[in-house]
Amino acid sequence: MRILIDELGGRVGETDLDADDLVEVYRPLRSPWWRINMVSTVDGSATGASGRSGSINNGADKAVFETLRALADAILVGAGTARDEGYGPAEVPIVLVSRRGHVPETLRDAPRGAVLLATTAGAEGLAESRAALGEENVIVTGDEVDLAALRGVLAERGLSSVLSEGGPSLFADLVAADVLDEVCLTVVPQLVGGEHPRIATGPDTATPLRLTTLLEQDGTLLGRWSVERPG
Ligand SMILES: NC(=O)c1ccc[n+]([C@@H]2O[C@H](COP(=O)([O-])OP(=O)(O)OC[C@H]3O[C@@H](n4cnc5c(N)ncnc54)[C@H](OP(=O)(O)O)[C@@H]3O)[C@@H](O)[C@H]2O)c1
Repeated sequence: MRILIDELGGRVGETDLDADDLVEVYRPLRSPWWRINMVSTVDGSATGASGRSGSINNGADKAVFETLRALADAILVGAGTARDEGYGPAEVPIVLVSRRGHVPETLRDAPRGAVLLATTAGAEGLAESRAALGEENVIVTGDEVDLAALRGVLAERGLSSVLSEGGPSLFADLVAADVLDEVCLTVVPQLVGGEHPRIATGPDTATPLRLTTLLEQDGTLLGRWSVERPG
């Protein structure tokens, strides 16, 4: 992997990046720092033939995926992605976002504290999830999941570097709630056509981004974009 653009560290031109280099390249810029990591084809698809992102990612994407996980205090994921991708526990807590409040089986038996649930006051799965995860691990911020409030609650628990792994509908909601500091995106050299979702599907937005880093490996582009806020 090589560095094509680096507005943050001045390492343009470096090649053969190893795992330690990637950790330096992807360090969060502040605390708290909320970012999302997504993968897309050149024709803008978030999924491949399998209907999941697993059929479009590749080795370069996986290397950055692992780096971002290693730099995170918690992983924030929409329940749809956790279900579709069969999420299990990770090295850091998984924070599952769900209106209905059901915890997928693959996460239900995790050790206490390994899975947190952010859900709604009226969630149908609330009582069951409290029993499975522990009352203190179920965060209710109102009739909707208030993502700005969640950012505060997680920071109070020492979870300040938060990596969202999507999916597309949670991504759009994170943008609408103005809680994202950074978008990390891998563009794989592939076209898939068809009727696949884009990486963000939800409310319209006109959020400016600033490209800070661009890496390349075998035609795969891996970028960091900071979310631009006025002032
Ligand atoms: N290309 C990529 O980088 C990438 C990344 C991740 C996923 N994906 C793909 O995306 C697909 C899944 O898409 P998706 O849109 O269903 O994913 P998603 O955003 O992970 O899941 C949607 C579900 O998550 C919960 N949710 C999302 N936002 C919420 C909010 N603001 N408040 C409360 N609950 C919220 C709801 O769960 P409940 O139904 O439980 O209430 C909602 O039905 C899969 O095919 C996956 O492979 C692609």
